[in-house]
Amino acid sequence: MQKASILAKLFSAIGSNDLPAAHSIALEMARAEANNGHHAVAKLLQGSLQPNGNGGRIWHTQSGETMQVGGIINALIAVTNLEPIERVVLTTHARRELDDVVREWKARKALERKGIRRRNKLLFYGPPGCGKSLTARALGRELALPVYTLRFDAIVGAFLGQTAQRLRQLFEFASFTACVLLIDEIDALGKRRGNPMDVGELDRIVISLMQELEHSEPKGLLVAASNLAGSLDEALWRRFDLVVEFPKPGRTQLTSFALSHARDRGVAPSPTLRRAIAASSTFADAVRAIENEQRTVVISAS
Ligand SMILES: Nc1ncnc2c1ncn2[C@@H]1O[C@H](COP(=O)(O)OP(=O)(O)OP(=O)(O)O)[C@@H](O)[C@H]1O
Ligand SMILES: [Mg+2]
Repeated sequence: MQKASILAKLFSAIGSNDLPAAHSIALEMARAEANNGHHAVAKLLQGSLQPNGNGGRIWHTQSGETMQVGGIINALIAVTNLEPIERVVLTTHARRELDDVVREWKARKALERKGIRRRNKLLFYGPPGCGKSLTARALGRELALPVYTLRFDAIVGAFLGQTAQRLRQLFEFASFTACVLLIDEIDALGKRRGNPMDVGELDRIVISLMQELEHSEPKGLLVAASNLAGSLDEALWRRFDLVVEFPKPGRTQLTSFALSHARDRGVAPSPTLRRAIAASSTFADAVRAIENEQRTVVISAS
């Protein structure tokens, strides 16, 4: 059973029509159930929070209006494990820029009053496993906003015109819903470029995407991620307020990250683990090596 104080917070968020706050509290409740070992209950609660829990057609906005957003809602996944941003290893430049994005969000009312735009369309690029998705999730936590994610593939329809419509629905959703919306693998556009049959459709998609980016004002943050930045249209890059690189870590940085991550998880740096860390080239590789070691230790002790 949840504590009365948490339920009171939830009720108060609902009472004041603050959907993002209600959403974060509900996620917190689901997490608490999972931490208490009530995995079935946690799954049920999390599942009920999925945007398609409402049938996928009508979305209740923070101000109490309802809007038709069509089937795109079905492609969105609510993300629950939001890490604190301090745990993410970022370049100095990225940390500074993202701190500013957070500050702009916190001062949004003051900026609005002066008619100043806050930066709300971000592009993260870099090789796999270097923190793009992790950072988008961490921003959700910093901004106390729910995080939704979808793969760009889910937008690209088989039929002409369908993609533009889905893009419109997606940006409409983002303009009504205070959330961090992560559009993963936006380079799906680039991959399609290899297919000569697709060129006409591809051009139309890029044009629609650029138009939506140009005209939309996400209520929270829109984060697009790509690990094939080279294949993205330059004109597309210019439509983002901020482009952040997530490079591969240097050897020293990766080793110190891995050893401190292992320590946090109570994993001793055995020679096998040290070798696996030395063979890693991304943060994700190192985390996987630590998890493997942890599994081995537990299994051999059982
Ligand atoms: N910069 C980082 N700091 C700390 N941990 C990291 C970082 N980058 C990656 N990790 C670890 O690796 C995991 C995978 O990273 P993440 O999903 O953010 O990669 P990505 O850049 O989005 O990759 P992809 O392009 O494949 O989507 C994270 O959940 C985290 O455990
Ligand atoms: Mg990712």
